Amino acid sequence: MQKPIVIFDSGIGGLSIYQEVKKKLPGLPIVYCSDNEGFPYGPRPEDEVVDRTLHCLEKLANQYQPSLAIIACNTASTISLPRARNLLDIPVVGVVPAIKPAGVASKNGCIGLLATPGTVKRKYTDQLVRDFANHCEVVRVGSSELVQLSEDHLRGKAVSLKAIKDIISPFFSGKQQPDCIVLGCTHFPLVKELLEEASPLPVRWVDSGEAIARRVDSLLERKDIEDRGKSDIFVYSGDQNTVEGLEPALKKLGFKEVREL
Ligand code: DGL
Repeated sequence: MQKPIVIFDSGIGGLSIYQEVKKKLPGLPIVYCSDNEGFPYGPRPEDEVVDRTLHCLEKLANQYQPSLAIIACNTASTISLPRARNLLDIPVVGVVPAIKPAGVASKNGCIGLLATPGTVKRKYTDQLVRDFANHCEVVRVGSSELVQLSEDHLRGKAVSLKAIKDIISPFFSGKQQPDCIVLGCTHFPLVKELLEEASPLPVRWVDSGEAIARRVDSLLERKDIEDRGKSDIFVYSGDQNTVEGLEPALKKLGFKEVREL
């Protein structure tokens, strides 16, 4: 039997990862889960984020018997990966800020990290910076507002460019400005065009999407990625009202079914 993979996030941010995986592996059936009951994760205490993540992953594993799980959320991956791997007997792929490629790509030795308030202050993030960008100045900006604006954007609501300019302004107010900015939250690639428009300087925006798709490809067995015509399912943990307005975007992305976790 062809098994699906599951992609998990607090909200719809993981759809940026979904798109990259789908591009690389179009025949792979996917169950996408939004823990919209717990959204947003960024300001939540770490133990709550870990508990919610493990709870949802366990439920998903029992219901869908996936061959692999992606925690498509930097805020959750940076604190829950070891426990998630212990809990599930399938490969668990985490999404963490792409500090390494940004450190390599930066020409002026200054990189930015745009993520949730949780991710910017994680020990895991400090370690990534020490390991891969010790030669760089790293400017960190944490924003839950941009997470919400990304959710609005996917729902087709108008998003203020001025609001985005204000959010990213700390990157451009110091002595040195980053030439690469890591999108360390899976929501942010969904508003990349708006970020480009709002940026006062040309910037290379770096995210983890493609690398995650390659990793998933390398971990799966060929039989799991053949196209057998299975359609993708979008599941949510909380109130159905919070899914409202998403249907057109989900349909366009290829989801045939929306249901409760
Ligand atoms: N999309 C998530 C991330 O990558 C979290 C957004 C949130 O719930 O605050 O960090």
